[in-house]
Amino acid sequence: MNAVPTRELRIDLGERSYDIRIGCGLLDAPESWSGLPRAAQALIVSNTTVAPLYAQRLHTALARHHERVLQVALHDGEAHKDWATLNLIFDALLENECDRRTVLYALGGGVVGDMAGFAAACYMRGVPFVQVPTTLLAQVDSSVGGKTAINHPRGKNMIGAFYQPRRVICDLDVLDTLPQRELSAGLAEVIKYGPIADPAFLDWIEANLDALRALDKAALSHAVRRSCEIKAAVVAADERESDLRAILNFGHTFGHAIEAGLGYGEWLHGEAVGCGMVMASELSARLGLVPAEFPARMRRLVERAGLPVRAPALPEEQWLALMRLDKKALSGEIRFVLIDGLGKAVQRGAPEGLVREVIRACSA
Ligand code: NAD
Ligand code: GLY
Repeated sequence: MNAVPTRELRIDLGERSYDIRIGCGLLDAPESWSGLPRAAQALIVSNTTVAPLYAQRLHTALARHHERVLQVALHDGEAHKDWATLNLIFDALLENECDRRTVLYALGGGVVGDMAGFAAACYMRGVPFVQVPTTLLAQVDSSVGGKTAINHPRGKNMIGAFYQPRRVICDLDVLDTLPQRELSAGLAEVIKYGPIADPAFLDWIEANLDALRALDKAALSHAVRRSCEIKAAVVAADERESDLRAILNFGHTFGHAIEAGLGYGEWLHGEAVGCGMVMASELSARLGLVPAEFPARMRRLVERAGLPVRAPALPEEQWLALMRLDKKALSGEIRFVLIDGLGKAVQRGAPEGLVREVIRACSA
């Protein structure tokens, strides 16, 4: 019995357009999988945590559509978002003589989704793939829009491709098994959409944060849908991030530095983004782009979401060096996504002195 009605959104990218379905019980619903590319073989890419929970159910559903449904369970965690782990997917495909029609199903959070998507982009120069995101973060962000990647020790998501999935299935029921810390990490990406695009959504999140943290399905359905709507519009306008799409990186310049500086996996991606949004809000205020009280509003919300708001005490020079490696940096100039009036984000540089002030003001 569905707790909430299933919602469907279209991501409009011409011949690469696809649907995002959001609802309860979708993993077992035959219509979730109908109309996808027909192929004899399918490979479920998951990890050692998610596979025992959900792979068998997905396998049963997919067995109606594919003659042979294979599985590979990757090591769990951001620390394994690397070449060696990616190769396990290619090993599974080649050992099983999978042809170029084989469909990959990414069953997991953003790490699995980004790696399975990158493997799909590369295997035989491209096979179809479907996103089945199982974390809140993946449902509101990483499964949508076609960014796929692995990390390099010198920088996050540095090796990858833009490659769109054929469908995204967001089953809200799978969030029931998500640890609280991971749910909070996902809330960071939900919060992100308010300041960059929709002040009314920011108000809604503030009012409904407790319901979201209690896994209220109606609240989750709205949060996932509104987040995906905003992301779909941005991606449709600028799929390959020539400019506008960078606004989805609010909080990420500081956040990626935290992740790389501490070593991947020490802070969760969403935790780093939450703290990074507080820092970027502080920088926006110091540049006079938002009222002085805005950073405190963001800090309160991020803290209420169960996320850290004090950055780790990395050496200042390390912060700057790591941020210069960010993909938005141009000719060595660090570029930030800043809030330029609530609901509007801009990508720009900032005087180094101000950036240093923010690092000092926001660090432990
Ligand atoms: P994750 O994939 O590591 O998942 C978090 C943890 O939750 C893992 O231990 C996982 O095994 C576990 N898990 C997943 N689903 C579960 C479930 N339903 N029940 C119990 N446990 C479950 O982390 P994430 O936060 O989902 O994703 C972070 C990654 O996403 C980062 O690598 C980040 O770079 C990437 N990302 C990509 C994009 C993009 O546009 N492609 C956007 C944002 C983030
Ligand atoms: N998560 C940022 C993007 O998809 O562009």
